[in-house]
Amino acid sequence: MDLHELLGARRVLQAPMAGGASTPALVHAVDGAGGLGSLAAGYLSVEALAERISGVRGLGTDVFGVNVFVPSGAPAPVSVLDGYRRDLAAESVRHGAEVGPSTYDDDAWDAKIDLLVGSPVSVVSFTFGCPSTKVLERLRDAGSATVVTATTVEEARTAVARGADGVCVQGVEAGGHRATFDPARGDDRPLLSLLPEVVGAVEVPVIAAGGIMTEEDVAAALTSGATAVQLGTAFLRCPESGAQPAHKAALADPSFTGTSLTRAFTGRPARGLTNRFMTEHPDAPAAYPEVHHMTKPLRAAAARAGDTGGMALWAGTGFRRARELPAADLVAALREAAVSSGGPRPT
Ligand SMILES: Cc1cc2nc3c(=O)[nH]c(=O)nc-3n(C[C@H](O)[C@H](O)[C@H](O)COP(=O)(O)O)c2cc1C
Repeated sequence: MDLHELLGARRVLQAPMAGGASTPALVHAVDGAGGLGSLAAGYLSVEALAERISGVRGLGTDVFGVNVFVPSGAPAPVSVLDGYRRDLAAESVRHGAEVGPSTYDDDAWDAKIDLLVGSPVSVVSFTFGCPSTKVLERLRDAGSATVVTATTVEEARTAVARGADGVCVQGVEAGGHRATFDPARGDDRPLLSLLPEVVGAVEVPVIAAGGIMTEEDVAAALTSGATAVQLGTAFLRCPESGAQPAHKAALADPSFTGTSLTRAFTGRPARGLTNRFMTEHPDAPAAYPEVHHMTKPLRAAAARAGDTGGMALWAGTGFRRARELPAADLVAALREAAVSSGGPRPT
């Protein structure tokens, strides 16, 4: 699959969203409107991922992406994890749920790559790091184009040097996790400042992500050199999105007035609507994925209770402009802007 051609034809990408938002129905609706949808492999078992891939194909969509979390970091010291476990005690009491185990794992990396090599999809994208040349080659040989998410020029150069077919530039405005290879060395740049630098530094197609919500945002990213745009938050309120109903409602609730970057929920910086859990745990340790596993039962209990103060309400800075409309209508409007923006045409 030639990535330049695919992105040039589609232009509007629905971001992979781990945690349930990227359903097969959403990917299918985006594809039907001429965009490119993606499933998120993050947090899923291999079996569940295989089921979702079959789900998309079963709906009649063959061109779509799958996003995989690259294992990063090292297990955190037990003393650090025990300290955070103590900090979470009050959360545990609040909804009667135990803090989860502080497990370190690689999110079934090898098995997910094997699955994607054996049952190739159009595009395999990565976040949290850059796979080895060998992994990128295996996927390409299987027929997939590969994309690595970058938050700095250096990360983009590393991705291309290892053989990625494209780069997704993630600005600091983005909802969900920062894609940063090493969060300790994070550099949180706004999209439109970072994008032209990456476009100038690499020869592969560049996808722009972070805070893109409207037709004007699409035009701005394309005229800054992006080949395509990728939106996450803009799709969260669509009926096909699998985001929790309380999450969808919070995006339109005037009592949420902004977003923040936090490690409180997962141990890796991520952007969501600023809520009680975030503000009460400002010093959460850099311990991913252990903190994710620890807070998971607490977040699930908060969701069951409809307590948006205890949920991870991932959202980008543009959340106020997230529209409640069918994904196909959103893609159609944004693609119209992409076509008339005068952005560079693929060669
Ligand atoms: C709920 C949610 C979940 C996300 N999950 C993933 C993921 O699994 N993999 C990934 O590469 N990016 C993920 N992202 C980030 C998106 O790929 C993208 O960078 C971001 O949505 C762009 O910013 P925007 O939300 O302002 O459009 C997620 C974003 C959101 C809002």
